[in-house]
Amino acid sequence: MPQVIGVPRETAPGEKRVATVPEVVAKLVKLGFKVAVESGAGDAANFSDETYRAAGAQVVQGAARLWAEADIVFKVRAPSAEEAALMREGQSLVSFIWPAQNPQLMQQLAARKVTVLAIDSLPRMLSRAQKMDALTSMAGVTGYRAVIEAANAFGRFFNGQITAAGKIPPAKIFIAGAGVAGLAAIGTAVGLGAIVRANDTRAEVADQVVSLGGEFVKVDYAEEGAGGGGYAKVMSEGFQQAQREMYARQAREVDVIITTALIPGKPAPRLITADMVKSMKPGSVIVDLAAEQGGNCELTEPNQVVVKHGVTIIGYTDLPSRLAKQSSTLYSTNLFRLSEELCKTKDGVINVNMDDDAIRGLTVIKDGAITWPPPAPKPPAAPPSAARPAAVQAKASGAHGKSSAPASAKATAITFAVAALAFWFIGANAPAAFIGHFTVFVLACFVGYMVIWNVTPALHTPLMSVTNAISSIIAIGALVQVAPPMVETANRPTAWIVGLALVSIALVAINMFGGFAVTQRMLQMFRK
Ligand code: NAI
Repeated sequence: MPQVIGVPRETAPGEKRVATVPEVVAKLVKLGFKVAVESGAGDAANFSDETYRAAGAQVVQGAARLWAEADIVFKVRAPSAEEAALMREGQSLVSFIWPAQNPQLMQQLAARKVTVLAIDSLPRMLSRAQKMDALTSMAGVTGYRAVIEAANAFGRFFNGQITAAGKIPPAKIFIAGAGVAGLAAIGTAVGLGAIVRANDTRAEVADQVVSLGGEFVKVDYAEEGAGGGGYAKVMSEGFQQAQREMYARQAREVDVIITTALIPGKPAPRLITADMVKSMKPGSVIVDLAAEQGGNCELTEPNQVVVKHGVTIIGYTDLPSRLAKQSSTLYSTNLFRLSEELCKTKDGVINVNMDDDAIRGLTVIKDGAITWPPPAPKPPAAPPSAARPAAVQAKASGAHGKSSAPASAKATAITFAVAALAFWFIGANAPAAFIGHFTVFVLACFVGYMVIWNVTPALHTPLMSVTNAISSIIAIGALVQVAPPMVETANRPTAWIVGLALVSIALVAINMFGGFAVTQRMLQMFRK
């Protein structure tokens, strides 16, 4: 029996997002699920009941009926106490939960004997989990919207212009913290033509800032800010002093400051003091994304826009909701990707597999038992060394029980025996010219495999790009067609062959030079 995914209308005041958009309804139906949407759930994000119906959803009147009909509920905001009370035993919920901040809600949901997947608890360092990472997609929207809010409050153009009425200098924007939201803000502000500078305590992001068209401003103090897992650490007093001096200089120079600095689980670092605000030009703007965690700026008021010392300070904490159509679309795509992981059989029934690292991390309550926090993540894969075969073997035996080690050894032996027989057969029967090419081919496969095996997963994207560029070896074939070897000159190629070969060379040259250039750019992002 296919399960019903229910999408209620969000009840948090001012929340405009919806957990599933019509485009994703159709995809969920293809996965075998039935989808029920509460009437009006998508109104605030501009998705009408009619578009949901057309996509294959059933539109249900009223929250009580929706929660009663659903086997799995998709939500954006953590449920209120009233919503949690609507849940029944055996139901599942996928939503933002923030279990550390909401212990009472966790107890209430556990008492209902439900299963809860908190999208905010996704283990972000798993590359497989990136497609489900709603924190990243929401932070991207936040960074973009922060720049739009700043542009709205700022009384000038962001880009420089030379007009008949005079020369207008570009606006200068300083971005504090170049994590997900910060980088999105840099890209957006550069796109609008502003001069963008950014700072972060993690030196590794400097290249990313530059590759987006920004300038990385260093703090004049030697201390690394990476605290592991892609997050920052609390810096020493000496560093903070040097950073304050640099920020004070920037505050005097720039027109807009967007602050995104955050260390998870810690109050927001105070980076912009009241004196710095005072030193800014009148009409300047500060957008403080960390308003909810106490603010990066001393004068921020959460959820308010205030003007202090002539500077507009924006402390909105609901920026994704202010771009509801976009963030709903991204969020529901994240949930669809999660649904694919939960329903690999495509029969519309989910399987919350606690042996899967990503699903384990997300599942904060399983059938009424609180399973949060998850066990510490496994240490990252050991660097390539002699220890690798042992580690692989240990993993295999962990997954399949003790008998699997000898079984896999047997399978390897059989594979080798079959391969050896195949080689013997080819060697005994194939013509001599073929054997030469075949040997080179087999060695190339072996060397290629050994080279790629040792590349760390983080570098797989540039690797793909460079292998794509290398595939331009096709150029050699095209060159042979244009100018065949001397022995064949009696057989001159026709104009058609030469023409097509020249087109191939041109296309392949784009692939080759473009591929190497893109790889170079990507590798620069990884260099310290
Ligand atoms: P993130 O963790 O990816 O980025 C934060 C960055 O701040 C990191 O790169 C970190 O190294 C840097 N940082 C930490 N301490 C610093 C310091 N003292 N000086 C300079 N840089 C420092 O976080 P993400 O996802 O980009 O979110 C940014 C902020 O936006 C967070 O405060 C988050 O809560 C907030 N947010 C706000 C929303 C809103 O509507 N206002 C919505 C979503 C997120």
